[in-house]
Amino acid sequence: MKLLLLLKLLALELTLVCVHAEGETSATRKNFNLKKIEGKWYSVGLASDKREMIEEHGSMRVFVEDIHVFENSSLAFKFHTKINGECTKQYLVCDETDKDGEYFVKYHGQNKFTMLDTDYDGYIIFHLRNVNNGETFQLMELYGREQDLSSNIKEKFTELCKKHGIVEENILDLTEADRCLQARGGGKA
Ligand SMILES: *[C@@H]1O[C@H](CO)[C@@H](O)[C@H](O)[C@H]1NC(C)=O
Repeated sequence: MKLLLLLKLLALELTLVCVHAEGETSATRKNFNLKKIEGKWYSVGLASDKREMIEEHGSMRVFVEDIHVFENSSLAFKFHTKINGECTKQYLVCDETDKDGEYFVKYHGQNKFTMLDTDYDGYIIFHLRNVNNGETFQLMELYGREQDLSSNIKEKFTELCKKHGIVEENILDLTEADRCLQARGGGKA
């Protein structure tokens, strides 16, 4: 009887440990090498719980070109959006908030984002929350060092999106879309 109780307690403890670990899946933590995310990227996947944001003409239908990491840990994103059918260059500097690994930027409202996962030389996954006029939505992005990624990585992205409550039909594969590849230029931002 005592052994059973002990086992139950152990099981409960394990569950708690797992829940705790789940809550901390952000990649942007102490052992994370921020500098290594620098350089060229391509937008491969895009998801939102407010689909119109990432559809054609949506303000969050953005295509990354390059990330720069400043000495002060701020990030600069060079990307393109289509405005009236034209690929338009955008450049945003995002500063770290007082939460480790969380970034802030103003773009169609107030945005806070974190990096959920990366292997540095293959893919990176971002999670963003936008607040604008009291309304909010989530955005999730999958970037690749190449123009496309393996189905394994894409699946991982899909699972992470679902975990954040984004339904499958709101997860876009951008590899067949016009991602303004022709508008990419050489040189660093
Ligand atoms: C960090 O440095 C960059 C480049 O000089 C600058 O644009 C940005 O505002 C700085 N961020 C903070 C929080 O000081």
